[in-house]
Amino acid sequence: MLLSVAIAHTLLAGLTVAAPFSLPNGFPTPNNDALHQIFVAAGGSLPNTPLPTTLPSDAVTTLQVIAYNEIFEVAFFSSFLNNVTNGVEGFTDLPMDKSYIVDILTAVVNQESLHAIGANGILASANATTIPACNYMFPSTDFESAVAIADLFTAVVLGTLQSVVKGFATDMDNSTIALTGLIASIIGQEGEQAGGYRMIQGKIPSAAPFLTVSTGEFAFNAIAQTFIVPGSCDSVFKTIGVPMLDTLAVVQDSIQPTNQTVTFTTSCTHVTEGKDFVAYLSGQNAPVLVPVTNVQVTGDIATFSADLPFDNGFAHGLTIAAVVGTDTGLETAADVTAAAFAGPGLIQVN
Ligand SMILES: *[C@@H]1O[C@H](CO)[C@@H](O)[C@H](O)[C@H]1NC(C)=O
Ligand SMILES: *[C@@H]1O[C@H](CO)[C@@H](O)[C@H](O)[C@H]1NC(C)=O
Ligand SMILES: *[C@@H]1O[C@H](CO)[C@@H](O)[C@H](O)[C@H]1NC(C)=O
Ligand SMILES: *[C@@H]1O[C@H](CO)[C@@H](O)[C@H](O)[C@H]1NC(C)=O
Repeated sequence: MLLSVAIAHTLLAGLTVAAPFSLPNGFPTPNNDALHQIFVAAGGSLPNTPLPTTLPSDAVTTLQVIAYNEIFEVAFFSSFLNNVTNGVEGFTDLPMDKSYIVDILTAVVNQESLHAIGANGILASANATTIPACNYMFPSTDFESAVAIADLFTAVVLGTLQSVVKGFATDMDNSTIALTGLIASIIGQEGEQAGGYRMIQGKIPSAAPFLTVSTGEFAFNAIAQTFIVPGSCDSVFKTIGVPMLDTLAVVQDSIQPTNQTVTFTTSCTHVTEGKDFVAYLSGQNAPVLVPVTNVQVTGDIATFSADLPFDNGFAHGLTIAAVVGTDTGLETAADVTAAAFAGPGLIQVN
């Protein structure tokens, strides 16, 4: 009897799931008063033009990925803001006035909140499933690494929204054509942020003439692999229904803008020399494919090498890598995504 009670308690404890992320203002579902305060802090309102009442199913998935990404961003930037505001260890040695950084992060939290609320608002208007918050974790523990992460995932968003516009145009549907201008306005907004994060790190604000393309699938996986507390987002993953890829990461800390060989680690232990390739997306160029070499498997991680032919026209800033099983027929980011079984490997070159 006592034993079974103990077991029942253990089971219950094991099942306890933290409440999903939210902000004191009620985000991701603030009431009307709170929403108006968000408008003020964001420097502007949600669009007041009519929302679509129907959407093609691929556009629903796209907007769900956007909402999922933007809610993660709100969680990240609100944690960053709290850390700076409260002088958490690692967030006290600041490159600018603390009050200026608090102003920047306050605006960003509220602007990203409206990106998320806006995406969910469009989904709701079209009677599609909206995206709730999950629980998030961040690898950064100081100001410098937090800005570097903001820079990196903003670059991924800037790449992904290119594919969103393309998908909305390809739908040839008035509901999604009407959203292309909205997405373009968000691309500009995220570009303003990216320039700011780069300047804070002492980089030039604009990385390259044409920014690297990404896809919704890669953005989804980048967040799922790095920032989601395991088990906290399963229903969202099911709603979105984008395939989960194996992880892929570059081992080197600092990648210089020159030809070189890089080392990758991946959770895909069946990666094979002579059969598999790394596909790189950089700038607006066609994907570049190079062979996987020197595969070594240790436990559930494989390590391998691949050339990074940077001098062949790669863009500064973000390069995206993925492992694929063919080196022919991959002409676009969408082709690479469809063929990928591990990725995205996110490489920052400066
Ligand atoms: C805020 O600080 C905590 C404690 O160091 C850390 O775990 C978290 O990742 C930080 N948040 C960000 C966005 O860096
Ligand atoms: C909205 O979606 C629900 C559930 O999928 C469905 O039962 C209902 O008919 C839909 N309403 C409209 C107006 O499309
Ligand atoms: C789409 O918009 C165009 C231009 O406003 C209009 O001429 C056309 O009738 C619309 N199509 C549908 C299906 O509503
Ligand atoms: C960089 O590598 C590519 C691919 O191997 C090669 O074609 C190119 O000549 C190299 N460029 C330089 C400057 O080494």
